[in-house]
Amino acid sequence: MGIQSDPPSLLYSAPDAAADDSVKVRDQLPPETDQHGYRINEQPMGTKRKVKIILMGAGASTLNFFKKAEEDMENLEMVCYEKNHDVGGTWLENRYPGCACDIPSVNYQFSWKIKLWSHYYSYAPEIWDYLKSIERENDFIAKYIKLRHRLEHVEWDDTAGLWRCRVRDLERDVVFEDSAEFFVNAGGVLNNWKWPEIPGLQDFQGKLMHSANYEEGYDLSNKRVAVIGAGSSGVQIVASIQQKVQHLYHWIRSPIWITAGFAQTWAGKNGANFRCTIPPFKNWSNSLTNRRQRRTAQIPQRESKEIPRVPQTDRERAQPALQVHHQRQ
Ligand SMILES: Cc1cc2nc3c(=O)[nH]c(=O)nc-3n(C[C@H](O)[C@H](O)[C@H](O)COP(=O)(O)OP(=O)(O)OC[C@H]3O[C@@H](n4cnc5c(N)ncnc54)[C@H](O)[C@@H]3O)c2cc1C
Ligand SMILES: NC(=O)c1ccc[n+]([C@@H]2O[C@H](COP(=O)([O-])OP(=O)(O)OC[C@H]3O[C@@H](n4cnc5c(N)ncnc54)[C@H](OP(=O)(O)O)[C@@H]3O)[C@@H](O)[C@H]2O)c1
Repeated sequence: MGIQSDPPSLLYSAPDAAADDSVKVRDQLPPETDQHGYRINEQPMGTKRKVKIILMGAGASTLNFFKKAEEDMENLEMVCYEKNHDVGGTWLENRYPGCACDIPSVNYQFSWKIKLWSHYYSYAPEIWDYLKSIERENDFIAKYIKLRHRLEHVEWDDTAGLWRCRVRDLERDVVFEDSAEFFVNAGGVLNNWKWPEIPGLQDFQGKLMHSANYEEGYDLSNKRVAVIGAGSSGVQIVASIQQKVQHLYHWIRSPIWITAGFAQTWAGKNGANFRCTIPPFKNWSNSLTNRRQRRTAQIPQRESKEIPRVPQTDRERAQPALQVHHQRQ
């Protein structure tokens, strides 16, 4: 491709140069485009372009994204729209009796924020506190998050190369538009509860609650309670309330399958939860922190002897690990 312009010697003359009648002096700025309208981009190669990211939802995924983006990325504008009044997603919303994580807390946390947990499987309020403390420490709400804003529509605009978003400000009930080069759906695959299809359910005269929208602290003692479903929520609710209620009905449509896993080997008797005394948790947290430091330092090292080998057989799972574990309690 050839771009035509006047030869430089005809265009410019140094301010102090002696007058030379043979050199033409230009009395106006050079054109910004050539005769075809082509404009040269006055930007050094490799210059980082500022881009914008819109994220939907301020649960664990987005908090982790912010942390990593601040560490690793540049020239980024981030906006997160969250429909709730606070961060935390799953752990803000789910407050039914017995709601806890079902993988050991020591693993259900960010490698960059290790905590000493109160239980082997910690309960929802503590997990939410953990996520909220991350938000507070990093000031994420002030920097990036618009609470009580629900994304209602997101669409890719091919011509502009942008995601076009329609957002409802739930406080003022007004809708506005926003756009960004990138859109991250961190809305949570489980963040969409619905009532079971049971004829007449809404005519029930007693208190009707969904596990994902539970009135926290509702007193069930000495009441007749029916639980529908034996998924993860149903199992936790029944285990938690069965001693308190006057009568418990549990409707189970399909059998439930629980596979034995490594985590159960280290749980309490019969796989149950237990309150954590500090020493074992300190060991786990220390070994996690040590491993993280080793990884950061990138010094290849063999695993510490304190970290037990993963039991391979049923026998191994049943015996040595459990013995060690129960002695520690
Ligand atoms: C009771 C329960 C226990 C669980 N236990 C475990 C466990 O032990 N281990 C495990 O690995 N996983 C577990 N999970 C899965 C859990 O959801 C994920 O581990 C994790 O918390 C998901 O985080 P997230 O940020 O991706 O989504 P979420 O925590 O679901 O957050 C999504 C956020 O997006 C917001 N949002 C959604 N739609 C919109 C919209 N249109 N506009 C604006 N905001 C929106 C929501 O309000 C919410 O705050 C559990 C889930 C539940 C429900
Ligand atoms: N990690 C944790 O500790 C934890 C805790 C809670 C939830 N979660 C996660 O959150 C998600 C949702 O779990 P969930 O337990 O709330 O819901 P779920 O897994 O969808 O289970 C719903 C239960 O309700 C039953 N059910 C639905 N409609 C019914 C009807 N009309 N009549 C009778 N029974 C009916 C279902 O039976 P059918 O099987 O026959 O449909 C099932 O047993 C899952 O991904 C789960 O892993 C995790």
